[in-house]
Amino acid sequence: MESMHEDIKRVLYTEEQLRTRVRELGEQISRDYAGKKPIFIGILKGAIIFYADLLRVCELPVQLEFMALSSYGNGTTSGKLVFKKDTDADLRGRDVLIVEDIIDSGNTLYLLRQELRKREPASIRICALLDKTARRTADISADYVGFHCEDEFVVGYGLDFAEKYRNLPYIGVLKPEIYET
Ligand code: IMP
Ligand code: MG
Repeated sequence: MESMHEDIKRVLYTEEQLRTRVRELGEQISRDYAGKKPIFIGILKGAIIFYADLLRVCELPVQLEFMALSSYGNGTTSGKLVFKKDTDADLRGRDVLIVEDIIDSGNTLYLLRQELRKREPASIRICALLDKTARRTADISADYVGFHCEDEFVVGYGLDFAEKYRNLPYIGVLKPEIYET
């Protein structure tokens, strides 16, 4: 753990800030979906910690599903999405909430939403813990956002660099020398 902390330039969101904001999102989602049984699709691996915390502050009968994705392309018409893991849940007529760690270009979510629409859910909404709005190229926005953040590479609370730092309990900005070397 010690070596991971040393690689962080500064803490962006503390455990306490994350807990508070996730609770607020949970309250908002619980109100919006009151009386419904939504399916929360967690996007692996980055969203798992956010997902697990969000679930426990949503007072709803939630169905848990997961997908793992890679995307290529520009998110307008020609992008390609690879499902490394799909869900076999029947989405028809269901209220789907996609739970993602961060929206950057928006390509991944743009393509995922396009694909999920073919499965005829009653609704699709997006909940992203972090939103790098300045970097958006795809025509997509999240319905629920934890924090709008600057264009810096962040890790922790599920987010990785080269599969490292996901288990940091806070979100921090990585020292540039870590990813420049
Ligand atoms: P997009 O398709 O460009 O929106 O990419 C979103 C994905 O890129 C996220 O699900 C993350 O896996 C990854 N990503 C983007 N920015 C960061 C970051 O600052 N730290 C860690 N992962 C990131
Ligand atoms: Mg991701």
